[in-house]
Amino acid sequence: MSGPFSDVGNTIFENKSVLTESYQPDTILERDEEIEAYSHALQDILFGREPENIFLYGKAGLGKTAVTTYMMNELLAEVDTRPEADHVHIHKINCNGRTLFMVVRELVNELLPENASPFPKRGLGTGDAFDELYAQLDRIGGTHLFVIDEIDHLEDVNTLLYELPRARANDHISNAFVGIVGISNDYTFRQSLSPKVKDTLMETEISFSPYDAAELQTILQYRADKAFRDGVCKQSAIAKAAALAAQDMGNARQAIDFLRVGSEVAERTGEAHVTDEHIERARGLVRRGRLENKIRDQTEHAQYILEAIARLAETDDLPARSKAVQTVYETVADSHGATPLTTLKSVQDHLSDLQMLGFLIRHERNHGRSGGQYYEYELNLDQEIILETRAEIARHT
Ligand SMILES: Nc1ncnc2c1ncn2[C@@H]1O[C@H](COP(=O)(O)OP(=O)(O)O)[C@@H](O)[C@H]1O
Ligand SMILES: [Mg+2]
Repeated sequence: MSGPFSDVGNTIFENKSVLTESYQPDTILERDEEIEAYSHALQDILFGREPENIFLYGKAGLGKTAVTTYMMNELLAEVDTRPEADHVHIHKINCNGRTLFMVVRELVNELLPENASPFPKRGLGTGDAFDELYAQLDRIGGTHLFVIDEIDHLEDVNTLLYELPRARANDHISNAFVGIVGISNDYTFRQSLSPKVKDTLMETEISFSPYDAAELQTILQYRADKAFRDGVCKQSAIAKAAALAAQDMGNARQAIDFLRVGSEVAERTGEAHVTDEHIERARGLVRRGRLENKIRDQTEHAQYILEAIARLAETDDLPARSKAVQTVYETVADSHGATPLTTLKSVQDHLSDLQMLGFLIRHERNHGRSGGQYYEYELNLDQEIILETRAEIARHT
């Protein structure tokens, strides 16, 4: 008997996980200079000396996290072979969506003995959390590297970066060394640091620049060799994925996404090879996925306003003034059982946010002699994507 799965064969992949976000490559390619600088900055640790602080920056998808994970693994392995090296403890934390208190509390909990109860969520403050952190560092001893990823997302970053690296100099600890590895997607983040903090964190700065097509091709080839069965992935498909990603931001994550999604397209259509055309399709799908996420990130009413504008686009009524948008928005909100925002001003505020986020184009109009000035709005993307994404979201709520 044949069931719904009986025709499904694994003809394309040898090991698909190599193409997923969570895969950590055992070799880092095309980052020799960055690795050398990194290694240089970490070498004090091998001799039991106080570590240097390191700051890594560069746009998303350029290998900052992957290189850091690789370096930390290599460091731990090396320390194991050297008797003069201190015990090294690595603490990784991602700051995205976290407050300073949450970050310090999480670090404390990582350091507490296994049977201890976690640091309380309420009742105590950030200062108490720092005190506990210092107590634990002294209790454990050794060298502690704090890897603080996406540090530009942390609001009160000056406090953290002032406190931690000075813990020893300020006599908060005496039995341990502390080093910081700060990672930021946003270079301008440095400008938000106080001068003292800047000097401390920037002891070693390592910048990650965009990959060119040849570098991306090397990275992709390595993944493709592991991910696909022999001969499945055409050379031209790898070159295409590398070229498209290089044209965009030189982002390795995106290049890998193109390859994964392209191979899924090939698999779904039952084809034996992954070709350039599959990668081309994948580019559209990946872009669309990103756009959908961006729509989902908007507040409820911002989404209703977007939906209203998409409806105006369908009936060819764009560009439109805010008043016209408001009228359609009210029916859209009603249709979702929500109470619409009442003032024109609040609709205008949303319109101006949506324009800044790149969803809308705004035209300034002047009313000849009478002197009135107003804005008209137009969509900066395909209305289909908005309406389909909205329908999808409405189905799940
Ligand atoms: N030089 C490289 N060699 C191998 N894989 C890489 C390299 N650079 C990036 N990658 C891969 O690309 C993706 C994005 O890299 P990641 O380190 O997360 O970027 P970032 O932290 O800079 O945003 C990950 O899957 C990572 O394994
Ligand atoms: Mg990262």
